[in-house]
Amino acid sequence: MSRHSIRRLLVGLCTLTAASQAATALALAVPADQHRATHSAARAVRPQTLSDLTTAMKGEGFAYASYNLYGTQADREGHPAMGKLFRATAQTELNEHLREAATLAGVVGTDAANLRQAIDGETYEHQIMYRGFADQARKDGDLEAAKLFSEIASDEGRHRDAFRTALAVVTTGHGTIPAAPKAATVPVSAGLPKVKAARTKANLDTAMHGEGLAHANYMLFAARARQTGNPALARLFEGTAGVELHEHFAEEAVLAGLVSTTKENLHKAVSGEHNEATNLYPGFAKRATAAGDTAAAGYFRDTAADESKHAAAFQEALNKLP
Ligand SMILES: [Fe+2]
Ligand SMILES: [Fe+2]
Ligand SMILES: [Fe+2]
Ligand SMILES: [Fe+2]
Repeated sequence: MSRHSIRRLLVGLCTLTAASQAATALALAVPADQHRATHSAARAVRPQTLSDLTTAMKGEGFAYASYNLYGTQADREGHPAMGKLFRATAQTELNEHLREAATLAGVVGTDAANLRQAIDGETYEHQIMYRGFADQARKDGDLEAAKLFSEIASDEGRHRDAFRTALAVVTTGHGTIPAAPKAATVPVSAGLPKVKAARTKANLDTAMHGEGLAHANYMLFAARARQTGNPALARLFEGTAGVELHEHFAEEAVLAGLVSTTKENLHKAVSGEHNEATNLYPGFAKRATAAGDTAAAGYFRDTAADESKHAAAFQEALNKLP
């Protein structure tokens, strides 16, 4: 199989997984009162809109994780105001932009549905995605990346197993929810990429977007578990979310050279926000409007306006640097 077709296969599988995860969330939703609103909102969304909402969530989760790391770097360089700006913007990306997209997409269901969705995601990452990335990195001579992808593949297998046990407890009412894994926070300092192949870099980017999304989804699932009176399940989701962000995302960020100097980080933030404000979200809004998904269209338009403000704030910060 050519490199091109492997990539196409992987991209196809990613899309399939995202779509099947969303479908699982819808299909397994139980008609509880607190749940019906999300469920019916999600049912009204067309497949293309659902796919655009998933893309939005991945971008927002990635922005949240990146901006927190950029914030820490700004502190290291003695720019506390810029650190604060990055962290405040990160909160908007997660608590407003990603959350609203998740509501429109009907991501959060019952505890059991959330666990099934988590099991599907972990299984895909464990069996297909990270193993495929490790093989490709090995072939391309990126041995450090190959080792990391293999280690993460094993972690995801453990996450799947813990979620499977938790699902049995939730559905039968017997047994104990597994203890939450503890994340060992990996520091991410400014540095150059430690991989050489373009394919490894692209796979790291895909992986970081997946980790950002998993972190965000698990935090939403944890909040739901707390609401339903299941604090042990909430802790399992929170602990796993911590591993996805503070270990997996961070380790990948180190290899990808995600964090640069604050000046360079601000440049990257301005261009990312500008692209979301003028290209990505307006395009999604147009498609959602044409499909009759008016709530989603409104969300995409409002988010585009927010991103434009983010771009302006980062540009202003950039102008203050010598
Ligand atoms: Fe955003
Ligand atoms: Fe995981
Ligand atoms: Fe992960
Ligand atoms: Fe933004």
